[in-house]
Amino acid sequence: MANKFLVVGNWKMDLSHKAALEVAGAIKKMLAGIYLDVDVVIAPSFTSLPAVATKLAKNEKVQLGAQNVHWEEGGAWTGEVSVSQLTPFARWCIVGHSERRQLVGETDEQVRAKVYVLQKHGLTPIVCVGETADERNRGETVSKITRQATAIFTQQTGVSVSRLVIAYEPIWAIGTGETPDPAEAAQTMLLIRKIAAEKLGAEAAEKIRILYGGSVNAGNAADFVSEPGVDGVLVGGASVKSAEFVNIVKAVEKIERTF
Ligand code: 13P
Repeated sequence: MANKFLVVGNWKMDLSHKAALEVAGAIKKMLAGIYLDVDVVIAPSFTSLPAVATKLAKNEKVQLGAQNVHWEEGGAWTGEVSVSQLTPFARWCIVGHSERRQLVGETDEQVRAKVYVLQKHGLTPIVCVGETADERNRGETVSKITRQATAIFTQQTGVSVSRLVIAYEPIWAIGTGETPDPAEAAQTMLLIRKIAAEKLGAEAAEKIRILYGGSVNAGNAADFVSEPGVDGVLVGGASVKSAEFVNIVKAVEKIERTF
């Protein structure tokens, strides 16, 4: 059976607390009367999670995610946030975003540890992988994605693969308005699923939802999810504009899954 589509909004550090509440309220309102066979997740900053959770209360259409978590379950980690601090509010969590890998130096090993702690506590990790423009130009996309994906799947012993999401985000496509050809992106995503199948078995690999991310908007979202094996989108800039985000959700919802 085909996976249900998933649309995730990564709000990054783009919204004030007040604006986060306004955008969440607007999305909730706009999706209220609509039948949706798509999972929709928004990921505000840590500080806005509790209030956005309250704002969305009793709303089953929009779920909450965090943008990061620490791999340790507690302890002397000033400024960090643990999984048990997230569980009252979020069911999903982005990890290994390229902005964290590049700017904060997050490693494959740390990303793997984060996936583990999230799954242990019942949260669904949304793990980001992707190549830089230089890596792409040097023809290193396959080796980079293989390294990052292998690091994730190697750790998957005894944890639920049905609760695992991978987001392929070519770094050169993030926030630039540039996108890969959807068929080309789908090929790279197929590589991720192949690595998952080698490590975890074909049946398990099919259950993993693999998203495309990088300059997704209401005009191009359908092109990506129309490709075989693309289970949804991870949206940055367009996700903090409520009407645009809802239009992305609607565009994805219109695509009939045949694979
Ligand atoms: P943009 O949609 O702004 O390119 O950001 C993508 C992203 O990084 C989502 O995690």
